[in-house]
Amino acid sequence: MQRKDLKKNKVPTFISVVNQKGGVGKTTTVLNLATTVAASGKKVLILDLDAQGNASTGLGILSDERKLSTYDFLMSNENINNIIKNTSIENLHIIPASQDLSSIDMDLAEMEKKATRLKNIFKKNNITEINFDYIFMDCPPALNMLTVNSLALANFIIIPLQTEFFALEGLSQLMITIKQIRKTLNQELKILGILLTMYDRRNNLSLQIEEDVRSTLNDLVFNTVIPRNIKLSEAPSFSMPGVIYDQRCLGSIAYQKLTAEFFIREKKFFLKGEI
Ligand SMILES: Nc1ncnc2c1ncn2[C@@H]1O[C@H](COP(=O)(O)OP(=O)(O)OP(=O)(O)O)[C@@H](O)[C@H]1O
Ligand SMILES: [Mg+2]
Repeated sequence: MQRKDLKKNKVPTFISVVNQKGGVGKTTTVLNLATTVAASGKKVLILDLDAQGNASTGLGILSDERKLSTYDFLMSNENINNIIKNTSIENLHIIPASQDLSSIDMDLAEMEKKATRLKNIFKKNNITEINFDYIFMDCPPALNMLTVNSLALANFIIIPLQTEFFALEGLSQLMITIKQIRKTLNQELKILGILLTMYDRRNNLSLQIEEDVRSTLNDLVFNTVIPRNIKLSEAPSFSMPGVIYDQRCLGSIAYQKLTAEFFIREKKFFLKGEI
């Protein structure tokens, strides 16, 4: 799919939020960015690709409301419209995940074209009629078949990096995977940005790590940095994203800034094809 065709046909922009490292802020970023993008009037879908189902829980979708989930979307011929759930947030919808997703690698193993299954299912469901502007995919902490499916389909990747001593550890493996996907499954795949998360201003180490990451990865890194903020971590237990739970906390302000930068970076790609 060409970018210009995507816009002309109102095909949504797919964003994969990915890092095989666990607990770096993928789900928190999906929830808060998707909510703020939805608040700007865009129609947004979250596709929960993690068997932990944290994005689904974080939006208050209870387990018994997940009878139809990402698993059914991938494995049965269930129509997408029966699987998508509304959330309490205007313009924000979700395909929730449930535990059965944890066996998906084995279930997919026997299938043909298993790496492009998600892409083909979206095609089959005639995505232009579904009318979403953005689809955010919350990836699991592994470079497994679900992550590969997400990368095979995505227009853009966002990579959250926790601002800690081993921040860059594992990134080279992810970059190799991205290169391979570009060669084989998705030439158009672009890194929209690398996002520093859980930044602690009181800690000199955070500053050093930021300098290190920026000097290594340059413009790939979002200017916006997400601070370590207790409100962001409390919010999921109240079944809402931080940006709704406490709009004014530093974490929410950072995600609002990120959303502005998200739109600017996306536009730059349209105009120049690169950042
Ligand atoms: N900026 C932040 N400040 C404070 N806590 C945060 C922040 N971002 C995320 N957290 C908390 O850190 C934990 C991990 O975050 P999150 O679930 O978003 O990471 P993840 O990469 O999706 O994890 P996993 O790999 O397990 O899916 C959660 O408890 C979350 O609430
Ligand atoms: Mg997660």
